[in-house]
Amino acid sequence: MRLAVNIDHIATIREARKAREPEPVAAALIAELAGAQGITVHLRGDRRHIKDRDVEILRQVVATKLNIEMAATAEMTSIARRIRPDQVTLVPEQPHEVTTQGGLDVTANRGAVVEAVRQLRDGGIKVSIFIDPDEAQVAASRESGADAIEINTGAYADAPPGERDAPLAAVRRAADAAAAAGLEVLAGHGLTYVNIHPVASMRVIEELNIGHSIISRASLVGLDRAVREMVELLK
Ligand code: PXP
Repeated sequence: MRLAVNIDHIATIREARKAREPEPVAAALIAELAGAQGITVHLRGDRRHIKDRDVEILRQVVATKLNIEMAATAEMTSIARRIRPDQVTLVPEQPHEVTTQGGLDVTANRGAVVEAVRQLRDGGIKVSIFIDPDEAQVAASRESGADAIEINTGAYADAPPGERDAPLAAVRRAADAAAAAGLEVLAGHGLTYVNIHPVASMRVIEELNIGHSIISRASLVGLDRAVREMVELLK
């Protein structure tokens, strides 16, 4: 299973001081050297952490796979068509949320999603949609023309340890339904060194997007070690 490291928090530290460091581009290169097979950033409408300049430079230096998370808006699809990341992940976005709250409701936002998928795929960019583990959302994603889905593992990660079976089974069902529909299956949100194992055991999932836990560990033991330790857990 591939690991994509979300480096938004490196930019969050930089923006805490509106300074030049730490440099997200350096973090991306260290993560790749430590075995990450993808780099993910979220270009938010308010640019609270990752900036346009970051995605421009990351596009030039990331040698594995650059995945940009973004809202399904005309502004964002036009930026993506200029930058040309390997993949865009469509996510819901609320201005004051601390982190992405739940998956994108593809059914309720069908028009905007279909248009964004069309624009991005016309621009030669692979499209993934971040959805909750719900088979109706899998079907709607498939119908939108997307190449992949990223299943939101947040409900599993947030459940008390004794109550994780049901949300885990929902992730498995959605993953199987997506694979059967011909979609590439990715997953992420809230995954940690402690809760990763059951998700990493699902062979149908090809890639995990992990941010907070890796960058948190990196702040104590270094990014190279933090990425290497997560890569080991995904084997
Ligand atoms: N996937 C998506 C779509 C996200 O928005 C995020 C958080 O930025 C992640 C994965 C990673 O979540 P975490 O930081 O909890 O590992």
